[in-house]
Amino acid sequence: MIRTVAAMILAAASVQMTCAGESPEVNHSAAFVQGEQWLDTDGNPINAHGAGMLYHDGRYYMYGEYKVGETVLPEWATWECYRTDVTGVSCYSSSDLRNWKFEGLVLKAHENPDHDLHASKVLERPKVVYNASTGKFVMWAHVESADYTKAAAGVAVADSPTGPFEYLGSFRPNDAMSRDQTVFVDDDGKAYQFASSENNATMYINELSDDYLRPTGRFTRNFIGASREAPAVFKHDGRYYVLTSGCTGWDPNSAQIAVADNVMGPWTVWGDPCRGKDADKTFYAQSTYVQPVQGCDDTYLAMFDRWNKTDLQNSRYVWLPIVWGNDGMPTIPWRDAVELPESKK
Ligand code: GAL
Repeated sequence: MIRTVAAMILAAASVQMTCAGESPEVNHSAAFVQGEQWLDTDGNPINAHGAGMLYHDGRYYMYGEYKVGETVLPEWATWECYRTDVTGVSCYSSSDLRNWKFEGLVLKAHENPDHDLHASKVLERPKVVYNASTGKFVMWAHVESADYTKAAAGVAVADSPTGPFEYLGSFRPNDAMSRDQTVFVDDDGKAYQFASSENNATMYINELSDDYLRPTGRFTRNFIGASREAPAVFKHDGRYYVLTSGCTGWDPNSAQIAVADNVMGPWTVWGDPCRGKDADKTFYAQSTYVQPVQGCDDTYLAMFDRWNKTDLQNSRYVWLPIVWGNDGMPTIPWRDAVELPESKK
């Protein structure tokens, strides 16, 4: 009896991530429990922070900050800019979003102290997109100088989703600062970089060239003075959504969803999509990406980092399915666990 009640409580608090509308049987042994250590297929902790995903040729690829070693606060720090040495960008692959195979570091740190990817610098929020016309995989990431004044985007390319990625260099898109960032590819193949700019006060949406390697010069300023970070962009029923966090460093704050009919705006702020326990603190986590589940209309996985600011390599993850309301707006209800789907094509 006690076991049955416990099972019922767990069932109420967890959800299986199948196509929206299906009511599957829940197998808790296969669920990811929020904030616990998640293991790859070799049994090692999944190490992909500030991650993004790419679905390509029947497989999901996840790219993230590979954080190992001591977390340090630079001597000059006037704010909590804790960091680990740059080691590179990790890649994991999966056919089902549940079993993740480590594909190694697809972009590696560089030994030259002047290089953007030297251990002493900062490399965050890598996002990889596929360019169907060039056949290249293109990575954009936030790169910083050791003193955190660079505020630039770094770009790398590869012939395969598992790399190796060749680093092309960094710049400020449209001569504007670029920190927390993501890249979104629209259905027509055009790509856009969303970046926290103007000292994180304003979000720039930078249209990218056809090869996705640089900005075209066309951009918009959004959420002016509102200090939004950690952008995650997705499209549903012809409308665009951007999920962001506030700007409090590694500490949690309230999430926000905005909606637009045009990817470059104007955006209408809808409010905090999070629901349930600790929703006002984004469940002690911060947005990083929203991945549509393949083969399922309306099914999107919202990915968050639960940072451990003084021991960053022990930061964890929170993944939650988006729930669509009758008003067409997304909410993100808390679940203790999420069971990810078997292979969906
Ligand atoms: C956060 C940002 C993280 C990281 C951190 C550093 O606001 O979202 O990606 O840059 O600040 O303090």
